[in-house]
Amino acid sequence: MTTFSIEKIREDFPILKEKIRNKPLVYLDNAATCQKPQAVIDSISHLYTHEYANVHRGVHTLSVKATDRYEGAREKVKNFINAQSTKEIIFVKGTTEAINLIAQTFGKANIKAGDEIIITAMEHHSNIVPWQMLCEETGAVLKVAPINLQGELIFAEFEKLISDKTKLVAVVHMSNALGTINPVEKIIAAAKVKNIPVLLDGAQAIPHMSVDVQALDCDFYAFSGHKLYAPAGIGVLYGKQALLEAMPPYQGGGDMIRKVTFEETEYNGLPYKFEAGTPSIADVVGLGAAIDYLTEIGMDNIANYEAELLQYATAKAKTIKGLRIVGEAREKGAILSFVLDKIHPHDIGTMLDSLGIAIRAGHHCAMPVMDFFEVPATARASFAVYNTKEEIDILMNGIEQLIEVFG
Ligand code: ALA
Repeated sequence: MTTFSIEKIREDFPILKEKIRNKPLVYLDNAATCQKPQAVIDSISHLYTHEYANVHRGVHTLSVKATDRYEGAREKVKNFINAQSTKEIIFVKGTTEAINLIAQTFGKANIKAGDEIIITAMEHHSNIVPWQMLCEETGAVLKVAPINLQGELIFAEFEKLISDKTKLVAVVHMSNALGTINPVEKIIAAAKVKNIPVLLDGAQAIPHMSVDVQALDCDFYAFSGHKLYAPAGIGVLYGKQALLEAMPPYQGGGDMIRKVTFEETEYNGLPYKFEAGTPSIADVVGLGAAIDYLTEIGMDNIANYEAELLQYATAKAKTIKGLRIVGEAREKGAILSFVLDKIHPHDIGTMLDSLGIAIRAGHHCAMPVMDFFEVPATARASFAVYNTKEEIDILMNGIEQLIEVFG
């Protein structure tokens, strides 16, 4: 049962009032990026209007205010994912940079020729390519745990891949292409038996469910702000403090140092050791505002509401002749990937756009998933807290209309 007012929530997102091709916008491309509430937009505008200066560098009032906002947002992130300390919260550009950071620091320090890294067959390119690059540099081997036709990880096969050679398990929490929610508790428990660190790619999971990194006991968790109602260009890498302490720095520059001479450099402590250069200050503040906004609604409420939307959309989609859902995992987040007989996903996307409906059509940066399902691409509707069943009706009517005309 919905515990919040959807009308009020929709009011919070100014862009939802836009007309696209003279039709009310139906925005169902939230897995690519989601829209921003007024509170986030206002927080950025307020910072630039009243409190902006560089952080950690000045004794003047504005710098102190900006630093307070910036570090305040770090505290909010810490509480949001229940990390132990703000030292474990590293601000990065997004999930992609977070994973590359792990590959280039933890990876280079700990992974050698012959070692193995395990991923799954449903990964986004950003959790494949950084490992391929590392394997190329080091001679390590990438192992891929298979999925079944529902789009679920075959857990027994994953377990078989774990060995004394495994140095890292890096898996997606929720698949962007299929919606599958992985059994991350079981994955982490299996890896822990051999003391193998686990990195979770949380880019898609974080806006849809409450995440507790201590309860999960994952070693690293990566996510992006822009899928969490926050600005693009900001993201978070969570890492357990002991692991982060032991890792070499990522990029060199200002803020990540304690002392520099031409002979040597002493690095700063956590989290600054991994934050070289002036950060994306306003985007961090926007992320803090997004977290406040979501906390007010409640992540469990969001998860329940979106589960209703997904159930409704799936049931409707199944009544449409010629529509095939790609990804029918039992544990699934609010993503509906599908293909239609005889109509290419790109044409579905273009035709729905003429009705004011925004979905994504393509390989979703998960080409191996497309290969597995033997499709060039899928059409994907992905839902957020502001979507409604009425919008799903509009989508399904649109699909039926285009099947009638082109199918
Ligand atoms: N990774 C994003 C998506 O799934 C861009 O659409």
